[in-house]
Amino acid sequence: MTAARTVTATRTVHVDLAGRSYDIAIGPGLIDRAGELSRPLLAAPRVTIVSDETVAPLYGARLAASFEKAGIKTASVTVPAGESSKEFASFGRLMNALLDLRPDRKTTLVALGGGVVGDLTGFAASVLLRGVDFIQVPTTLLAQVDSSVGGKTGINTRHGKNLVGTFYQPRLVLADTAVLDTLPRRELLAGYAEVAKYGLIDDPAFFTWCEKNGAAVLSGDAAARAYAIEQSCLSKARIVAADERETTDLRALLNLGHTFGHALEAETGFGRDLLHGEAVGAGMAMAFDLSARLGICPAADAQRARAHLGAVGLPIRLRSIGGDNRRVWDADRLIGHMRGDKKAEGGKLAFVLARGIGGAFVSREVDETVLHGLLADAIAA
Ligand code: NAD
Ligand code: GLY
Repeated sequence: MTAARTVTATRTVHVDLAGRSYDIAIGPGLIDRAGELSRPLLAAPRVTIVSDETVAPLYGARLAASFEKAGIKTASVTVPAGESSKEFASFGRLMNALLDLRPDRKTTLVALGGGVVGDLTGFAASVLLRGVDFIQVPTTLLAQVDSSVGGKTGINTRHGKNLVGTFYQPRLVLADTAVLDTLPRRELLAGYAEVAKYGLIDDPAFFTWCEKNGAAVLSGDAAARAYAIEQSCLSKARIVAADERETTDLRALLNLGHTFGHALEAETGFGRDLLHGEAVGAGMAMAFDLSARLGICPAADAQRARAHLGAVGLPIRLRSIGGDNRRVWDADRLIGHMRGDKKAEGGKLAFVLARGIGGAFVSREVDETVLHGLLADAIAA
């Protein structure tokens, strides 16, 4: 085994959105520099940190100390860890807790946590007093490479996930790579699916890098991690700058694996049986298989995508999903969930397919007989 390489430098990726542009700083120890880096961007030296009950005890005090050291008055609110904090009722509780602190329009919210805290805090910031600034301090790999960048905020309803939300960009993203050391391996792996996604969408050289270095990213090699996060943020920043509100099909490419993944998540109850990133991993393997079956993608490329995602340890076979709560999968039910996906238009299912590694495109013309056959085979495998 090679010794993990250490890095100390901070890398910066710029998200170019005219008046709403911002930087993503990536590197170890950024939590301790949050005050210094945020201070010039704050409308007033007042912040409220929103975090969850797992992350707050790990990093809340250090983040607050960094703000206080820079002369920034700091308050904190903590929500339960997990997807339930994105429910309507939880959102209401958060808004009241924030208002109890008597914020004004120059108060900045700071999201310290994974995608749940980021989506929730971003949405809260977009409506609190009709809109206050917010900063993302993402602490999961998924949040550092995807959810903290690009300004999609949202909460869940009984009709589905993220169906209430806003496009609302943060003022700054601070991705402290050292905090990933406390992230459970399963969460790290789920986030890694989103890293590999950028290679599969439109960057075959990065996918080749992932094939060689994915294991190092997962085992804690700091240099490999920083590079993977930087490349992912560069990809996402480029796509978001060109299609911030998903008005063309460009930003929709970021949903590679999501039509299948959403159906698998819906069937498993959006819970711990299948994490979002795991669903995206399995969904990307299925999207490549479907592309090959439709004759659009070389079978060898579909096999390569599946092989890498499986090799790092993602649960890409349906029979490996669910732990002790094994599912009886049903192709018609899965297709039913796909019809409820946000991307479906006028009853037509939408998929991100691929012409090969790095050749993703959006299709609304998938033959449902082929889709049904693919799902039936995946269930039987
Ligand atoms: P999460 O926020 O639930 O975090 C996963 C778990 O890890 C939680 O229990 C959390 O407390 C814990 N945790 C976080 N950081 C930790 C650390 N450094 N050390 C130890 N434990 C830590 O889940 P997630 O995977 O980060 O995010 C999933 C959410 O992101 C979903 O709600 C999904 O809809 C959303 N999402 C949003 C976007 C977007 O563009 N806005 C994109 C992808 C996903
Ligand atoms: N995670 C998909 C997007 O940001 O568009």
